[in-house]
Amino acid sequence: MKSIVNLFTSSIGRKFLMALTGLVLVGFVAGHLVGNLQIFSHPDKINGYAHFLQSLGPALWGVRAFLLLCVAVHAWAGLTLLIESRAARGPEKYGVHKWLQAAFASRYMRLTGLVVLAFIVYHILHFTVGVAQPATFKTQLAVNYGEYTMHEGFHLLGFPIVAAGQHVHDVYSMVFLGFMNPWVSAFYIVAVGLLTLHLLHGIDSLFQTLGWRNHRWSCCLQKLVALFCLAYFLGNLAIPGAIVTGLVKPAPGTTAAQICAAAGPGCCPASHARAPSACPAGHTHAPHADPK
Ligand code: HEM
Repeated sequence: MKSIVNLFTSSIGRKFLMALTGLVLVGFVAGHLVGNLQIFSHPDKINGYAHFLQSLGPALWGVRAFLLLCVAVHAWAGLTLLIESRAARGPEKYGVHKWLQAAFASRYMRLTGLVVLAFIVYHILHFTVGVAQPATFKTQLAVNYGEYTMHEGFHLLGFPIVAAGQHVHDVYSMVFLGFMNPWVSAFYIVAVGLLTLHLLHGIDSLFQTLGWRNHRWSCCLQKLVALFCLAYFLGNLAIPGAIVTGLVKPAPGTTAAQICAAAGPGCCPASHARAPSACPAGHTHAPHADPK
């Protein structure tokens, strides 16, 4: 019991908590990216996967609560450690900023952490709650155009999860239509860039805190972390990047394809069903396509 209290009250305990919760969150963002990259595959994949997650019911809420707790503990530990280190330094400002040895990423951990926190709030409002772009939220798409019909079904580790012919929410179209808005895409790319900077220093330092780094592979570890972060950034960049530039077109049979076909070139489906003024300059407003 005493050691649990120490975890929360001592600086080293809070550093350890930061490392542990950081590890969980790194696992989540990596797994989430693998799921999101299914956008480049058949729409059955991401729609079936999202349907599977929703069908978990209370288990999904358990995972959500656990992740939220990890974010809260991670942010709280970071904030209290910052306050303590400032108090220990006293009111005297250093004559010279000794930043020379500190890597760019480590200097901006707090700033990038705060931006990531704000991004998570926006992202949940966008794709989970549906208030950021309500017209293209999955439930609104279902009301206006009907649900997505699974073609081949969805299998996980060889087990059939969602059968062919089943109607599910069109998460594929929600993501596609969302990222067709250049402002939304730009925001995601900047936020994920800052998240990558946060991970670059965070993963390296969590290995140190957890005692998983030794002299023999310390330099190799840094390279591996940099490679992981580069892959993570490129993977995340690819999704809004390919959609907003039109490199990837929505797959036939999805609501996104239906809306784009009806709107023609230069459409602005992201602000569909809202005032035309919501369209970024140079984009025309997508007309209503016939519901399925
Ligand atoms: C291009 C990048 C991303 C895409 C396309 C994407 C897509 C999605 C989608 C579609 C959902 C809702 C799933 C559903 O409808 O059931 C979602 C939820 C979520 N995403 Fe992302 N995401 C991206 C990046 C991120 C990043 C970088 C983070 C973390 C920092 C993140 C954290 C979350 C969280 C916490 C949820 C809520 C999960 C829930 O509802 O239970 N996402 N994302």
